[in-house]
Amino acid sequence: MFPPIRKMADAARRARYLEALGIDVWVPRHPRAEPVVAPAAAPGDLASPDWPALRAFVSDCTRCALHQGRTQTVFGVGDTAARWMVVGEAPGADEDRQGEPFVGAAGQLLNSMLAAIELPRETVYITNILKCRPPNNRDPRPEEVSECLPYLHRQAALLRPQIILALGRVAAQNLLGTDWTLSKLRGTVHHFGPLNTPVVVTYHPAYLLRSPGEKRKAWEDLKFARRVFAELTPAA
Ligand code: URA
Repeated sequence: MFPPIRKMADAARRARYLEALGIDVWVPRHPRAEPVVAPAAAPGDLASPDWPALRAFVSDCTRCALHQGRTQTVFGVGDTAARWMVVGEAPGADEDRQGEPFVGAAGQLLNSMLAAIELPRETVYITNILKCRPPNNRDPRPEEVSECLPYLHRQAALLRPQIILALGRVAAQNLLGTDWTLSKLRGTVHHFGPLNTPVVVTYHPAYLLRSPGEKRKAWEDLKFARRVFAELTPAA
């Protein structure tokens, strides 16, 4: 029996995206299961804003020194009814200039990664742990994360995503409040915030650009995330 036409078209499209990712086979993976404790909720002063108010609040933020070097804040982009939230580390130079997350080379690869699991960029909500660019793209400092994380908590509370995809060690560790390594965090469903939103962790696309040999593992993570989402939302 042949697969239905639509399924064949989807498979062909996915094969093209996988080719762009440099990946050619499907590899089954078996999740480990060891959840990490979720961090605290947003403080009271951020408990009520809606999307426009929160965006305005963030654009005026001076809670840490990063505001001094920014061109603008990078709040987030995408469908505010999305079921998938994608969380990166912090804006880079391109994002700082354009005011949108993941618009540079890493963003192009992220778009291909999402498309490979049939999630066009505009159907998800994309944001970062930090809303301002750290100088020379250095890692976020703990005090910067603690000032900025309440914004992400509020974004998650407004969006109420079914699943969060965390990109890279820095995003994952700060989202989950852990110092576990990325390899330990991969392949397990973690949880974020008071809504206990499921979190799946994968490599950061900028890392994959530097280490293309790891793309196969990222593809395993994406399939795992898609499976977790499908299991959590059977009607999707
Ligand atoms: N890297 C990130 O973590 N976020 C961006 O928005 C761009 C690059």
